[in-house]
Amino acid sequence: MVKAITVHKHGGPEVLRWEEVEVGVPKEGEIRLKQNAIGLNFLDVYMRQGLHNRAPPLPFTPGMEGAGVVTAVGPGVTSCQVGDVVAYATLQVGSYAQERILRADQVVPVPSSVDPVEAAAVIFKGLTAHVLIHKGFKVERGHTILVHAAAGGVGYLVCQWANAIGATVIGTVSNMEKAVQAKEDGCHHVILYKEENFVDRVMEITAGKGVEVVYDSVGKDTFNGSLACLKKRGYLVLFGMSSGEPDPVCVAQISAKSLYYTFSSVGEYTEDNRDELLVAAEELFCNVANGVLKVRVNHKYPLSQVSQAHMAVESRNTTGSVVLIPDEE
Ligand SMILES: NC(=O)c1ccc[n+]([C@@H]2O[C@H](COP(=O)([O-])OP(=O)(O)OC[C@H]3O[C@@H](n4cnc5c(N)ncnc54)[C@H](OP(=O)(O)O)[C@@H]3O)[C@@H](O)[C@H]2O)c1
Repeated sequence: MVKAITVHKHGGPEVLRWEEVEVGVPKEGEIRLKQNAIGLNFLDVYMRQGLHNRAPPLPFTPGMEGAGVVTAVGPGVTSCQVGDVVAYATLQVGSYAQERILRADQVVPVPSSVDPVEAAAVIFKGLTAHVLIHKGFKVERGHTILVHAAAGGVGYLVCQWANAIGATVIGTVSNMEKAVQAKEDGCHHVILYKEENFVDRVMEITAGKGVEVVYDSVGKDTFNGSLACLKKRGYLVLFGMSSGEPDPVCVAQISAKSLYYTFSSVGEYTEDNRDELLVAAEELFCNVANGVLKVRVNHKYPLSQVSQAHMAVESRNTTGSVVLIPDEE
């Protein structure tokens, strides 16, 4: 038996229960992983509340990213062996546990140049950032982009990465502390959206032209403003709905400037597509190792205290990555 967090009913952070679970032995194509660290994502909150369209049946163990050491492999596994350090990002929940079973094709090797805690902190958010800036819309040198929640878990990586590519990065944040971080992470312009109208500021910064792309994870509260910030033929890449689902889109909102609107979901690119996953993960870890991406492990909690971490995320008091460290028993 190992200890894990289990959700028996949907609800607030109090439904996250620390209890013993059976892990079992890996079957054909599976591995068993002893986890060094687990990354916390805003999506975990949706899952706990039962609001995500892929929320698993009850009871379940939440969590979608982590890193650790392979302790056993099932029959037929050739891609990794006992002792390997690996990381994973998957919508198949279950990471809030000291140990877990995964399919071998869900994990990627963590190079020795990357700390496993940083790997756990960056794998899900970093692969999402990779999809956003390479696939949802391809950011190039000379583009001007707008990133909402620029100090958040995905946002800070998008800002760093797009800056490294040579884009001009505009970020929105709610307070001064987040603004300082966003600046450090490569935002050329930071908008404190509670104090200034972000559409007006974007138009001022771009001399009325607008931006090539908006990366919007906030949804309802920002959606119409995001469309207004786009230049002709610009892209609105929605990838989250932290404030709720936006109202339905009228054709006129899109046709006015011949805009593009897409929802980018990391799972659609990396789940069941091993080749794409390996290429993206290699590029991500390479960028971490060579310093292009600076992983911010800004908040660490013992796994057994995860309810406190959920409270902090929900009250929007976190920046960068939030990491859970499995308790030693
Ligand atoms: N599509 C995908 O594949 C994918 C993958 C990973 C994450 N996501 C989504 O991306 C979003 C960000 O995830 P994350 O883990 O990186 O979280 P996060 O950015 O660390 O946290 C959310 C941030 O959004 C901002 N926000 C604005 N309005 C909010 C509201 N009403 N409620 C809560 N937050 C609000 C807050 O920043 P300010 O205080 O600066 O406003 C908050 O800190 C989430 O919506 C998540 O579901 C999508």
